[in-house]
This record gives sequence, C-alpha cells and structure tokens, in this order.
Amino acid sequence: MMLKYLTPLPLFFTSVLAQSALSYPSFPNVSTLDPHQTPNYTFDELYNLTNRFLQNHMYPNNIAQSLAINSTLLSDDVLGRVDATRDYAGRELNTEYLFGLFANIALNPDAFTLLGYPINYTFTRFLGIGNVVSFAAIIEYKLPVTGTTIPQELDFWVTYNDKGEISQYDGNFRYLQWQLTSTIASIAKAQNLSSSTSLLPILHAKLANSICETATTFCNGTNLQYANQQACENHLYNETRFGDGWEWGMDTVSCRMIHQNMVPLRPDVHCEHIGPSGGGMCVDDRTYVGNLEEEYFVNTPFLAPGLEGGVH
Ligand SMILES: *[C@@H]1O[C@H](CO)[C@@H](O)[C@H](O)[C@H]1NC(C)=O
Ligand SMILES: *[C@@H]1O[C@H](CO)[C@@H](O)[C@H](O)[C@H]1NC(C)=O
Ligand SMILES: *[C@@H]1O[C@H](CO)[C@@H](O)[C@H](O)[C@H]1NC(C)=O
Ligand SMILES: *[C@@H]1O[C@H](CO)[C@@H](O)[C@H](O)[C@H]1NC(C)=O
Ligand SMILES: *[C@@H]1O[C@H](CO)[C@@H](O)[C@H](O)[C@H]1NC(C)=O
Ligand SMILES: *[C@@H]1O[C@H](CO)[C@@H](O)[C@H](O)[C@H]1NC(C)=O
Ligand SMILES: *[C@@H]1O[C@H](CO)[C@@H](O)[C@H](O)[C@H]1NC(C)=O
Ligand SMILES: *[C@@H]1O[C@H](CO)[C@@H](O)[C@H](O)[C@H]1NC(C)=O
Repeated sequence: MMLKYLTPLPLFFTSVLAQSALSYPSFPNVSTLDPHQTPNYTFDELYNLTNRFLQNHMYPNNIAQSLAINSTLLSDDVLGRVDATRDYAGRELNTEYLFGLFANIALNPDAFTLLGYPINYTFTRFLGIGNVVSFAAIIEYKLPVTGTTIPQELDFWVTYNDKGEISQYDGNFRYLQWQLTSTIASIAKAQNLSSSTSLLPILHAKLANSICETATTFCNGTNLQYANQQACENHLYNETRFGDGWEWGMDTVSCRMIHQNMVPLRPDVHCEHIGPSGGGMCVDDRTYVGNLEEEYFVNTPFLAPGLEGGVH
C-alpha cells in the first residue's frame, strides 16, 4: 500500500515552510494607547455588559432603545461596522441601525423585506479581557415575510468605554449569503412556488415597490428622491441590481431594503440612502482591498490592555 500522507515533503517545500516560520510579522505596537481610555473590566462585568446589549437588541426591547434616539448603551463617539453593510459613526445613527431598524421591521410587517427581527439569542463563544470582548451568538430572527424564524450567527468584536458604553463594534454575519438563499427558499415554500420558478425577479419587484412606498410616504419637499412611485420603481427594478449578501452597503436594492426601515426615524438623514444617489450609504465607492484595510477604529484598539507595546 502506498503511503499518501506521511511521505517527506520535497526539499523545496520544507525550506519555504522553515523560512515562513521565521518571518511572522510582529504584533502591532499600540504603546501609544492612553490607559485612561481603556478601563480594565472583570470577565463578569464584560459578560454582563454584552448581555445587556444583546437583550436590548431583541424585539420588543429594541423599541425603547429606538425611542430614546440616543441609546445610553452606546458612547457618543461610537464607531460601528458590519461587514455586509458599511461604517456607522455616532450614537444617533447607531441607535437607529442597531435598534430602530429592527424594531421597525417588527412594527411595519407590511413593508416588504427579506430581513427579520431578533427575538432571542444564545452565546456560542465569549472571551473578554480589559475593555474588549469577542463573542459569537446565534440569534433567532422572525421573518415577517413567511412568519417563520431563521437563526443567524453574529460574530462580534466590541470595546467598552469607562461608562460601560459600547465605543466600537465590528460585526460579521456568518454565512450571510447562505442565510439569504435559505430565506428565499423558505419564501418559495410558503408561496407554494415550484422549484423552477425564479423568485429573484419577483422579490426584486416587491422590494422596489415597498422601498418606493416608503420614499413616496416619507421623502417629500427637500427630501424628495424620485418624481413619483412609478419613476422610483423603474429606477430600482430596471436600473439597480438586486445585490448579493456582501453588497448591502453598495448601490443595490438590498442595501435600500435595509435603509427603508430607518427612513421613518429621520427622513432628513435617511431618504437619500434609498434615493438614486444612495447618499453615501448605498454607493459603489468601495473596493474589496480598500474596505478590508480601512483604518476605521480609532477610539481604542481591539487589543486588551496589557498587550500595549506588543507581543513578541
Ligand atoms: C512603540 O511605539 C512607541 C511610541 O511611538 C515607541 O517609543 C516604541 O519604541 C515602540 N515599540 C516597539 C517595540 O516598536
Ligand atoms: C452580572 O449580572 C448578574 C445577573 O444579573 C448579577 O448577579 C451579577 O452580580 C453581575 N455581575 C457583575 C460583576 O456586575
Ligand atoms: C442625540 O445626540 C446628538 C449628538 O450626538 C444630538 O445632536 C441630538 O440632539 C440628540 N438627540 C436627542 C433627542 O437627544
Ligand atoms: C428562540 O426562538 C426559537 C423560535 O421561536 C425557539 O425555537 C428557540 O427555542 C428559542 N431559543 C431560546 C434560547 O429561547
Ligand atoms: C400553499 O399550499 C397550502 C396547502 O397545500 C395551502 O394551505 C396554502 O394556503 C398555500 N399557500 C399559498 C400562498 O398559496
Ligand atoms: C411628507 O413627509 C412627512 C414625513 O417625512 C410626512 O409626515 C408628511 O405626511 C408628508 N407629506 C405629504 C404631503 O405627503
Ligand atoms: C421596466 O422597464 C420595462 C421596459 O421599459 C417597463 O415596461 C416596466 O414597466 C419597467 N418596470 C418598472 C417596475 O417600472
Ligand atoms: C486588569 O485587572 C486584572 C485583575 O482583574 C489584572 O490581573 C490585570 O493586570 C489588569 N490589567 C491592567 C492592564 O491593568
């Protein structure tokens, strides 16, 4: 029998491996960190702060946060990012994004959306040290479109300031495109569509219709985006792509699907995001590498206090 795996590697590969083992990049130098900015919480405190955030993220608790306009769970200078969308800076915008958006999905079941609102969660991973937490949680989302629920895993990095407010977060929805595809399959099932029916054009049209109704209802006067409902639907259906699960911060209908739920909160700010220009939120102005390497988080590093100066 031939040994498939335990044969020695050719010399070329062993020398490459040996070299790469010697050339690990060093840990970033963060000794410029102001220790007063980075409180040293206990593990229990970090767990409680994180639990408090997630509890308030759930419906119906998120209604109260949304009505507060500036959630006291967030710092005034909070910097947020979710990889499928883009950056959200400041307390008011993040209150809308983390709480108001989801509360509105629950409160407006007629606004057509593929999104759900969070109803419960279970931690799957949790680490906390200093003012930094890295966690993952499986969140159960209720989908108004089918009346069913679907779980989604959220991967999150958070920092807290000395008041216990979230000062930064960097979130990723795991398998988002797969989740979206599963959601679409469950819609097809609920609608008794045969597997040969292509649902995407139907959903595209329904989303365009719903987003345009939001625009027609809330975006008038100086916030006007489209001449009328028909011009809006034509733009979003015929001239704007649907968008994949990584394009929720680009010039897509799926990006505007997210922002439609924030429009009622502050039409002055959010109408543009569902308009033809995308208002800086639904715009094709990002590259893959540019997005990845963006230096965004300046409040405190996502490095626990005690690691200042680097690990070598
Ligand atoms: C880290 O940065 C500080 C301040 O810029 C500098 O004094 C120090 O030598 C740096 N440490 C390392 C290991 O590069
Ligand atoms: C964390 O929350 C639990 C439950 O509310 C409470 O019993 C505990 O004292 C809290 N711990 C800290 C360190 O705040
Ligand atoms: C929310 O905070 C912003 C500043 O971050 C402020 O301009 C606005 O008036 C506040 N809104 C309310 C309702 O407190
Ligand atoms: C979350 O909700 C789902 C759907 O209602 C349910 O099946 C599940 O048991 C709930 N999980 C927790 C932890 O409450
Ligand atoms: C799908 O079919 C089921 C039973 O076959 C029926 O009860 C249900 O009303 C149908 N749904 C739609 C949207 O047609
Ligand atoms: C204009 O939009 C506001 C919300 O932004 C809404 O309250 C008002 O009813 C709208 N006016 C008209 C004439 O549609
Ligand atoms: C898309 O364009 C076609 C061809 O011009 C037109 O018939 C249709 O009404 C447009 N769809 C929407 C939603 O406006
Ligand atoms: C943070 O507190 C822990 C004890 O809870 C201590 O061991 C650690 O040295 C402290 N870290 C810093 C950077 O002060």
